[in-house]
Amino acid sequence: MERDSLTREKLIVLDLGGHGSHIAARQIRRLKVYCEIFPFTTPLHRLQAARPRGVIMTGRVNQAQRGAIARCAAGLLACGIPILALGSGLHWLVEELGGKIQAMGADDPPTIYGTEFDVEAVMEPGSQAILENFAHGICGCQPTWTMESFVEMSIKDIRAEVGEQPVVCGLSGGVDSTVAAALVYRAIGNQLTTIFVDHGFMRKHEVEEVTKVFRDRFGDNFIAVDARERFLQKVKGVTDPEEKRKRIGTEFIRVFEEEAARLGKIEYLVQGTLYPDVVESGEGTALVKSHHNVGGLPEDMSLELLEPLRWLFKDEVREVATELGLPDELVWRQPFPGPGLAVRIIGEITLEKIRILQEADYILREEIARAGLERDIWQYFVVLSDTKTVGVHEQQRTYGYMVGIRAVNSIDGMTASWVHLSHALLETVSHRIMDEVKAINRVVYDISSKPPSTIEWE
Ligand code: XMP
Repeated sequence: MERDSLTREKLIVLDLGGHGSHIAARQIRRLKVYCEIFPFTTPLHRLQAARPRGVIMTGRVNQAQRGAIARCAAGLLACGIPILALGSGLHWLVEELGGKIQAMGADDPPTIYGTEFDVEAVMEPGSQAILENFAHGICGCQPTWTMESFVEMSIKDIRAEVGEQPVVCGLSGGVDSTVAAALVYRAIGNQLTTIFVDHGFMRKHEVEEVTKVFRDRFGDNFIAVDARERFLQKVKGVTDPEEKRKRIGTEFIRVFEEEAARLGKIEYLVQGTLYPDVVESGEGTALVKSHHNVGGLPEDMSLELLEPLRWLFKDEVREVATELGLPDELVWRQPFPGPGLAVRIIGEITLEKIRILQEADYILREEIARAGLERDIWQYFVVLSDTKTVGVHEQQRTYGYMVGIRAVNSIDGMTASWVHLSHALLETVSHRIMDEVKAINRVVYDISSKPPSTIEWE
């Protein structure tokens, strides 16, 4: 997709390792300056060809990599591209190239500047000013990267790319696929058919809620497929998390293929791929979990992919959603994994366990909403363990499930810290769950951050 007009004035974040590059890039985007992440292995000529107004280096390099990084930095400076080295771990580079630590003047010739703080601190107001000075002052970037202009540009690009062809989009109920579909719909209207596959692992009332939103928005161009029974059959007796994910992912594609075939010859498939997915799939990262996105790429379907959000971070997607007039309940929906509750039920999945988890999870959501915390927490949910424990109810022995409450804050899901929910709130939730969901007689609170844990339990 062509983004040239909007992204001509860009900065590059050169990722020297760690998670910091995402944080830096997002902060730059918040200054309405377009910014892309490149791995440190990118050859100098490719960095130069991207014609950035400036480069921000984040992370740490080991001794062996120093020479290559210093040569790359010198090459950029020689082309008149200023550099900001974030964090004391890169002071050696600033010193080696005769740059400055935190003294930036717009009249300076292109040079390398170093900050005293590490990339995590760029969220703080003082450090924001330094990024702002670098982006606007030193590099002269104008604040043109807005979601209003992004929508306008995307509509033109989608129309140019798709022409008169029919397009399908798999909807999960999550923000990303919905926004992608809404954007494409705005561009080409009835040429788009949206498909929502109910795999039976959605949260309580979720199917009705998302179906209503989609019907209102897409009208006759929306198809809902009830595939609960076939998904349940596919995961019957499966306890291994990866196997569950794979089976659900494959089944999704099968259902999707069947629906697409029913519609006739389809040329394009819309996916809600976001920029972090694009960056992460670039370099050889180790597999932690096979993430399954709804409408994931069916290998043997000869469909062209349309990924209108592939340049955006999550917070930008939410802005686009608002720009497109999507309702707040949908825009602020917490991230929900493609396989749904299936990866929150440890061990074998049964209909009974799905119901138990739906009820417990609903209570947690109600109480978080009552406490006004919905927008303050990245993700909160209940996990149904396969451990049963002994309890007592009205002087009778019980033998019921143990559930875990999980609440985490995160910027992009790659790292996360557990949320210090108040004891009073935890007490209310625990009390209600055990009182209202009789199959559960123990509630624990998960105080693990990522890493070393992951957000979902499976
Ligand atoms: P983990 O559990 O890997 O999750 O720490 C990071 C973020 O990704 C979400 N997640 C998924 N999203 N398909 C998705 O679309 C998946 O299969 C999947 N698994 C995890 C998770 O909820 C968290 O926000």
